[in-house]
Amino acid sequence: MKEAVKVEGLWFRYDELSDWVLKDVSLKIFQGEFVAILGRNGCGKTTLVKHFNGLLKPCRGEVSVFGVNTRNLSTAELTRRVGYVFQYPDSQIFAETVFEEVCFGPKNLGFPKEGMRGLVNSTLKKVRLKLDLEASPFSLSTGEKERLAIADVLAMNPRVLILDEPTTGQDYSTCRRIMEVARDYADNGNTVVLISHDIDLVCEWVDRVILMKDGRILVEGVPDKVFMEDKALREAGIEAPSVLGLAKAAGIDGKIIRMEDLVEELIRRIAV
Ligand SMILES: Nc1ncnc2c1ncn2[C@@H]1O[C@H](COP(=O)(O)OP(=O)(O)O)[C@@H](O)[C@H]1O
Ligand SMILES: [Mg+2]
Repeated sequence: MKEAVKVEGLWFRYDELSDWVLKDVSLKIFQGEFVAILGRNGCGKTTLVKHFNGLLKPCRGEVSVFGVNTRNLSTAELTRRVGYVFQYPDSQIFAETVFEEVCFGPKNLGFPKEGMRGLVNSTLKKVRLKLDLEASPFSLSTGEKERLAIADVLAMNPRVLILDEPTTGQDYSTCRRIMEVARDYADNGNTVVLISHDIDLVCEWVDRVILMKDGRILVEGVPDKVFMEDKALREAGIEAPSVLGLAKAAGIDGKIIRMEDLVEELIRRIAV
């Protein structure tokens, strides 16, 4: 598998007088992967992913994107490769109409003008939004705004898509839609990095989980493995998936972290 993002011995602090925020972080994220980064508020998740698109540069260590060190890429080149959807859509959205909002990035990257309407329409479709292109983005619901912020970035067709807490404060159907969009994008050969606190969503949709604590990676692996590590979860301040508790309450002693698997197991037992 091709490496999309490679981080080696990354140390970072915001200024020389403050504490290190990232302490010797190393990791690889591959093309076609959908990865989640989890950990308490303030443990360094946003700081880490901002290194992927060059918004931040390492104090020590290296970050490369598809084999190229981020120090050797211009901001424009990085924007083309790695799209970052900010934690709060309101801080990203600024245009007067939905149309201008979605085509701002592609226009800046020099995409042809003639194709813009088609691009905006197909991108809105990808994020499952049906909107009047002349509407003000500020008139939208929080769930629509979040998906519009994702559309802004998707319109540039980045090979790596970073979603920083897109589901926080969103209703269940919006969360599912966002996960579907992310899963589709990864399944089409791109890479998606999701920061989220929603364990139940994460374990249903992602390929790999990275748990962080105090600027370090505590443990990483497939959800089925990581979410069984009680000690690491406790240390990272993460609750185990609720399905695990339900399974236990139903007397099932297996490793079940997904609702559909639990339902299947219960049906199997009833049928016996
Ligand atoms: N722009 C900044 N300047 C100084 N310190 C910051 C800045 N952004 C974040 N921090 C600090 O860095 C640490 C990690 O923050 P952050 O990466 O935002 O964590 P997370 O995304 O996991 O909540 C926190 O202690 C936070 O206060
Ligand atoms: Mg954050």
